[in-house]
Amino acid sequence: MATVVGSAPKFTERDAARLAAELYGIQGDVKALPSERDQNFRIGTNHVLKVANAGELREFLELQHDTLARLRHFARNLEWPVVLQSRYGADIVEAGGHLIRMLTWIPGTCYAAAPPHSPELLASLGRALAQMDLALAGFDHPAAHRRFHWDLRQATDALQFLPLLPAEKRELLAPIFAAWEHIDWNALPQSVIHNDANDYNVLVREGRVVSVLDFGDMVWSATVCNLAVALAYAMLGQQDPIAAAAAVTSAYRELRPLSESDLDALYPLAVTRLAMSVCYCAWQSAQAPDNEYLNISNRPAWALLERLAAMPDGWAAEVLRGAAAQKDSLLSRRRRTLGPSLSISYRDPLHITHGRGAYLYDSGGRAYLDCVNNVAHVGHSHPRVVRAAADQMARLNTNTRYLDAHLVEYIERLAATLPEPLCVVYLVCSGSEANELALRLARAHTGREDVMVVDTAYHGNTNALIQISPYKFNGPGGRGKPPHVTVLPIPSADPTGWQAAAPAPPAAFICESALSCAGQVILPPGYLREIYAQIRATGAVCIADEVQTGFGRAGSHFWMFETQGVIPDIVTMGKPIGNGHPIGAVITTREIAASFANGMEYFNTFGGNPVSCAVGLAVLDVIRDERLQENALTVGEYLIAGLRDLQTREALIADVRGMGLFLGFEMPHEREATELVNRMKERGVLLSTDGPLHNVIKIKPPLVFSRADADLLLAHLHRTLRELH
Ligand SMILES: Cc1ncc(COP(=O)(O)O)c(C=O)c1O
Repeated sequence: MATVVGSAPKFTERDAARLAAELYGIQGDVKALPSERDQNFRIGTNHVLKVANAGELREFLELQHDTLARLRHFARNLEWPVVLQSRYGADIVEAGGHLIRMLTWIPGTCYAAAPPHSPELLASLGRALAQMDLALAGFDHPAAHRRFHWDLRQATDALQFLPLLPAEKRELLAPIFAAWEHIDWNALPQSVIHNDANDYNVLVREGRVVSVLDFGDMVWSATVCNLAVALAYAMLGQQDPIAAAAAVTSAYRELRPLSESDLDALYPLAVTRLAMSVCYCAWQSAQAPDNEYLNISNRPAWALLERLAAMPDGWAAEVLRGAAAQKDSLLSRRRRTLGPSLSISYRDPLHITHGRGAYLYDSGGRAYLDCVNNVAHVGHSHPRVVRAAADQMARLNTNTRYLDAHLVEYIERLAATLPEPLCVVYLVCSGSEANELALRLARAHTGREDVMVVDTAYHGNTNALIQISPYKFNGPGGRGKPPHVTVLPIPSADPTGWQAAAPAPPAAFICESALSCAGQVILPPGYLREIYAQIRATGAVCIADEVQTGFGRAGSHFWMFETQGVIPDIVTMGKPIGNGHPIGAVITTREIAASFANGMEYFNTFGGNPVSCAVGLAVLDVIRDERLQENALTVGEYLIAGLRDLQTREALIADVRGMGLFLGFEMPHEREATELVNRMKERGVLLSTDGPLHNVIKIKPPLVFSRADADLLLAHLHRTLRELH
């Protein structure tokens, strides 16, 4: 490499003009074009004079000319330069120690300078590459069989420059080279390939790829490397790099199928190309800091490598294999067989295949910032939680009628998060089971049946819970309020309206500590203290439904009820407790537990099984170790301030409310809210609506949601609200 860059020709534009005139009889304005190791001069409007590196072999230029001839013959949908003969009848001429050629100029813009890189343009790139690879099948030339530092088979050549990079950059590249080592080269078909369809070599005209230039990196290698190189550059600067790579690949495969082995190798090879590129840049920059061309693709390449590293393992490879192809059939098969009482989110439903942190990833290669899935509390597929589940699953999973260290440790840890006298734990499998059991506890303890709830509440999907959920019994298909239920209004700030009056003394008052289905409503200060006092005066018990609000989401407190300065008699938990693994829990006092222990056993086949307990423990560990409650507080405050700022500028935001990472804002109507949610999804941000009028946008992301995520959400909200306005 040192010799190659060092022996680059140093002709002036005047030299080039003279050579063009003398050798080819061609005159015109001369303009030097950027090149790494050769020199290219545009002459007039129709020609380019190419001066090869002093190290270039004539035989290699002949390979290029043979290749062009073959492409002109077999890849006719594309345009290929014609090699001109000099006045003396040769297509390669020697001058000043360098080999010289004159080629016709193909008009167009280089791909890098032709944004936006629309799906159509990406597809045309895929087709162009497939046409080239098809045209070169069966073609061979001795000069192609060379050891070349840009050949992806020789990635170790680049690896030697790793020490030139800072530690964090080396860490980014290490897994890439490790994956490269697993490529089974013997399984990959080989041929002569162009090997450098980078964004400066691909020529675009009228939104379509018309040619691929610069044959100086040709080599005999695995054919799939040609596509892999192009993917590396097609991903640069894209909002959804994997979707871009998938668009190129799928168009390529329509013309030239790829084997299973090719598909296995494709993504690792594309990323290896980027890694090689930044390694060579590091070395070249050290040698020739003033050569601007060397740095052209360096910064975007690092940015892309960082983004790719944040993506879930295996996702990109799966997308490139065509995972999206099944999306339509999944929808129709789902509709045919799944119970029809369940809607699917978004006008154009999502086919999510992977999750990591606060992001979800779909089969088509798009990443989505997840602002609604409060279940994936510590982040989607958190590795510690996954490992805890897998390890325990591989070891033992039984019911809770045996002694188990995980169970005991878990219930102790869970109980320790709550104030006295809440100390007796029941483990179940869902929020519904938790609330169902809470009702049984309250009824056993009081000997009464009636229940008091707050309007628009949802507490679960069982018979008994539908009956106490106004959101359901007053909603579509509901049968109205049953006689044993009293509904309190969603509280206003005025305490004179806080009356818990019922026709008969109830068994329980159940209330979320901040109201979810009512539209992310924060209870007015003092509300629960007042209502709990009135309820307890009747002998009833107070149940705090913390299914959505618990585990640090409030930011200032671990449990949302603590923000109201009360201690419930029963607390129910679900959703975030297992980060997606089905766990629920009920925690109550010794007195209530004693009332329930009337001889009838409470057995729950799956509740409290060792796998669930291992998962629950891992979730508690991660919340503590990653300081997620603190994150909910700081990012939540930052986000609500951003939303309030947006509110001053955007008339479509009526009210902003929330606490920690339990936030929402109101829009005038359901129509605008639904439109916003769908448009935000198209921008790669997932939100959803709530509230009795479906006009509240709810924001309750995984607690790993960062300040940068909040910025992204706010920026997209701003743009989308502008559009809607
Ligand atoms: C406040 C509240 N309680 C209980 C439940 C029921 O939980 P699950 O769906 O796990 O049964 C939900 C579910 O949405 C909920 O939001």
